[in-house]
Amino acid sequence: MLEIEGACINYGPVSAVRNVSVKVEQGEIVALLGPNGAGKTSLLSAAMGLRPLAAGSVRFKGEDLRKLDTENRVRKGLTLTPEGRKVFANLTVLENLELGAATRKKGAEIHEDMEMCFGLFPILAERRHQTGGSLSGGEQQMLAIARALMSRPSLLMLDEPSLGLAPRIVGQIFRLIRDLRDRGLTILLVEQNAHEVLRFADRAYVLSTGECRYAGPASRLHDKGALMQAYIGELVA
Ligand SMILES: Nc1ncnc2c1ncn2[C@@H]1O[C@H](COP(=O)(O)OP(=O)(O)O)[C@@H](O)[C@H]1O
Ligand SMILES: [Mg+2]
Repeated sequence: MLEIEGACINYGPVSAVRNVSVKVEQGEIVALLGPNGAGKTSLLSAAMGLRPLAAGSVRFKGEDLRKLDTENRVRKGLTLTPEGRKVFANLTVLENLELGAATRKKGAEIHEDMEMCFGLFPILAERRHQTGGSLSGGEQQMLAIARALMSRPSLLMLDEPSLGLAPRIVGQIFRLIRDLRDRGLTILLVEQNAHEVLRFADRAYVLSTGECRYAGPASRLHDKGALMQAYIGELVA
């Protein structure tokens, strides 16, 4: 469904990602792991069209994405919940959700999707008239995910959704991610909680300092030693 091939991403003279290829098939949860600074956020940003590729290609549902801007990538069914959530603090929950549907024509469908989001996240329904900034960290993450769902994506990319959340809330977010997959969504998940994510991911990639250290089934990394080896660059799939 998503095919990133030979991606190179630079920030001025700094090379952040070098020749990385990542594939996500329909219906999968794919984990993108690796230490801070590995290039994970850069890779998702490039897939979304928020950063240019210095080399390489991105295809989605068979189409070359390089000629599409971010808005048109969203229209095609690709979306991103960015690192740090980025909900609009001064807008209400409802207004945040409406913005998530900005690429679509207004109408009954949008209302339906909002009800679907409220079904998934009852707490957001309760707080629909509160501002984003007044929500707890976990609620803001739920709002960020719900907002992404408002574009009716077929592939959802999540950048560190559990960052800064209490363990109980992290468990809820991970359950939700599995629920979304069971409802037919395809997911590319960047996470620091590698061990937990590897329990339910289908396949995993490990990046370190801009290079791919592991690409293969998540189950091969269940062993702590194997995961460590991938992080330090000795395990080759
Ligand atoms: N806006 C930026 N300007 C300059 N360098 C950046 C910028 N964003 C990221 N980088 C650098 O690119 C590398 C990869 O960063 P990033 O993609 O954020 O990694 P990760 O998400 O895996 O922590 C890091 O060395 C980081 O310092
Ligand atoms: Mg990051």
